[in-house]
Amino acid sequence: MAGELSPIDKAKFAAARRAVDFVESGMRVGLGTGSTAAWMVRCLGELVREQGLSVTGVATSARTAALAREVGIRVVELDEAKWLDITIDGADEFDADMALIKGGGGALLREKIVATASDRMVVITDAAKEVAALGAFPLPVEVIPFGWRTTKALLEETLVSLDVMGREVSLRMDGQAPFRTDEGNLILDLALRRITNPRQVALVLNQIPGVVENGLFIDICDTVVIGEADGTVELRDAASGRVERERIDFAESDNLFRDLAR
Ligand code: A5P
Repeated sequence: MAGELSPIDKAKFAAARRAVDFVESGMRVGLGTGSTAAWMVRCLGELVREQGLSVTGVATSARTAALAREVGIRVVELDEAKWLDITIDGADEFDADMALIKGGGGALLREKIVATASDRMVVITDAAKEVAALGAFPLPVEVIPFGWRTTKALLEETLVSLDVMGREVSLRMDGQAPFRTDEGNLILDLALRRITNPRQVALVLNQIPGVVENGLFIDICDTVVIGEADGTVELRDAASGRVERERIDFAESDNLFRDLAR
């Protein structure tokens, strides 16, 4: 069944399948958003349904909450769970320090709140998202709708003093209308091309009134799981610097693929 998936989906699936092995019964789990995280939610759902794993999920978006419930995961609000054992989420880019750009799916605010409220954040990804320097992926910045054009102008002015290679700022659209986040906010995408000092950029951007949060995740990710289409996964641990490689057996997940095909 896995043979019917594209190579990129196989890579995402491999990372997701390995990451759910970190989840133990009784854990409170932050559920990320995006196509890789959706694989993780399906894998976790399979463990809940078929192996009786008992978990409580906190979703980082309305669409993840809907998928999680659909596959049998109990979902509660973050304030009910209060603190999480682990969050598993995707990323748009990651570097050697495990700094991330997130928010391509527009869920960066809830993703950062949930990841920060977790003992451990595991990022699941394919190898194409590893970069020498962050910034090729436009940096999403969530802003409140009130006065957003003024906020955009302030952002553009602020970027002049920062060591970045591009400074174009654009309002994210959803068809003809501005994209709205789950919080009803807007997203400005910053085409910075290369971010020399992500920590500084993250701090400076968040000081602009009207900016709610930016998509730079610094010192939040603990483990990166990089999947490949042949089922190989590489695990990198931030604290120890340890790197391990394993192989996922796709045949073990045939049930999941059968469910998806229905
Ligand atoms: C959602 O807002 C993002 O942060 C996603 O985690 C990120 O865009 C990765 O998504 P994919 O797994 O779909 O590439």
